[in-house]
Amino acid sequence: MTTMDQAEYVHQCRNEGIDTWNSMMLLYNSALKEIGTKVEILNDEFQHTHQYNPIEYVKSRVKSPESIIKKLKRYGYSDSIENMVTYCNDIAGLRIVCSFTSDIYRLADMIGRQNDITVISVKDYIRNPKESGYKSYHMLVSIPIFLSDKVVDTKIEIQIRTIAMDFWASLEHKIYYKFEGHAPDYISKDLRECSGIVAMLDAKMLSLNEAITEAKMED
Ligand code: GTP
Ligand code: MG
Repeated sequence: MTTMDQAEYVHQCRNEGIDTWNSMMLLYNSALKEIGTKVEILNDEFQHTHQYNPIEYVKSRVKSPESIIKKLKRYGYSDSIENMVTYCNDIAGLRIVCSFTSDIYRLADMIGRQNDITVISVKDYIRNPKESGYKSYHMLVSIPIFLSDKVVDTKIEIQIRTIAMDFWASLEHKIYYKFEGHAPDYISKDLRECSGIVAMLDAKMLSLNEAITEAKMED
């Protein structure tokens, strides 16, 4: 079967009079299912080899049409399906929430090594946090989606973070929206400070876990 990227598939759908929007949404939803299963398998394998679950929970979503249009506008592109598949990389989004920072890198590595996954780009906001204090590990990947007569490489954004980072990010997100992106300075400052506390908590939890593991081995 022929493999193509999403832009080529849009072109083909247009030529054949097939609804392009629904075709793309089918791809994004399929990509979420594929990666979701892969991540679940990795977690199960880890459970049976190390008697330990690196993943606390996984969330996934497809970006709403309103958010897609808003993002394209923000980037200065008109709202066409072609621009959407080319410039909007987070339409399919999967968030993996781990127990410890070390699990994040272990999982990212395991995902990156899968033969059918192509890592397009990586943003490590744990080693290099954003100005806001945001911490998370982002991977933009593509995965082949097998349709009846063709294979389409489909993009999906994976965010990997600890529970503490997720807690910070969801609260900050709510505050950001409350102030429509213009939070007073003292709030932004407090949030950055909280981000430091989150990093300290993650480090403390990790060393505690290592101490517990060692103590167990000595039993
Ligand atoms: P977007 O246009 O916002 O998608 O940015 P980008 O394409 O440069 O990607 P980036 O990796 O910077 O961020 C993508 C996603 O990370 C966002 O959609 C959010 O889910 C999350 N994110 C990034 N920065 C922040 C932040 O400061 N606070 C919170 N809460 N989430 C953030
Ligand atoms: Mg985004």
